[in-house]
Amino acid sequence: SLSAGASSHNKDILNVAHRGASGYAPEHTITSYKMGEQMHGDYIEIDLQMTKDGQLIAMHDETLDRTTNGTGQVKDHTLAEIKQLDAGSWFNEKYPQMAKPEYAGLKVPTLDEVFKTFGKNANYYIETKSPEVYPGMEEALLEKVNKYDIDKETLLVQSFSPASLIKMHDLDSSVKLVQLMEYTSPAAINDADINAVKQYAMGIGPNSDMIDKEYVQKVVNSGLEIHPYTVNEKEEMQKLIDWGVTGMFTNFPDRLNEVLKGK
Ligand code: G3P
Ligand code: CA
Repeated sequence: SLSAGASSHNKDILNVAHRGASGYAPEHTITSYKMGEQMHGDYIEIDLQMTKDGQLIAMHDETLDRTTNGTGQVKDHTLAEIKQLDAGSWFNEKYPQMAKPEYAGLKVPTLDEVFKTFGKNANYYIETKSPEVYPGMEEALLEKVNKYDIDKETLLVQSFSPASLIKMHDLDSSVKLVQLMEYTSPAAINDADINAVKQYAMGIGPNSDMIDKEYVQKVVNSGLEIHPYTVNEKEEMQKLIDWGVTGMFTNFPDRLNEVLKGK
């Protein structure tokens, strides 16, 4: 039937646990990543920053202020200093209805710890954040990917920076790449844009709120994947699925699975 066809197609839509299951637990903690797996997210999304002593850590912001009890730039702090910080209590304060006592005192994970915890066969969707602030970030990422023998068939690396992705591509052309886009007005994409991205990437990740059906279908018909971010409401998830997206980033991977199952 049509609905059976639709549901088998739905299985191919990537459910990316954005910062882990960050609607339920403090973003970019081992706890939020584990919840993403438990909720059957297909991928763990990780944003990378780099410490003063060159260690890759999982954090969204360039500064410590929002998601820890520290202050200042990540690049001005050593890993030892960052390991002293509480990366969970902010969540309990900001989202009292989701708060759990065990979130207080959670630590900022290193990429090493994430790879050790989830292993080489987990699916990682890793973003080089602010690569212009962190020279050598791409080499450091690739070194860890190789050290932990992460499966490059499934690994995805994403960035807003074309230069960072082109650098990754030059370092190791077997790593699959996704070009993030941030549109501030209704998005359009032309053949030249698509062909430029296709030189190094297998997909595009636009913000979900400025794209339309035409945009999605133009990208999909070009053979590129399209994974919009960050989609938290079931109605918007269903709309994007109907338009033909091949995946999406969500803070609520359980909700997306319900939509994909037709619930
Ligand atoms: O990586 C996809 C999406 O996460 C990009 O936005 O700011 O949440 O990293 P941001
Ligand atoms: Ca991200």
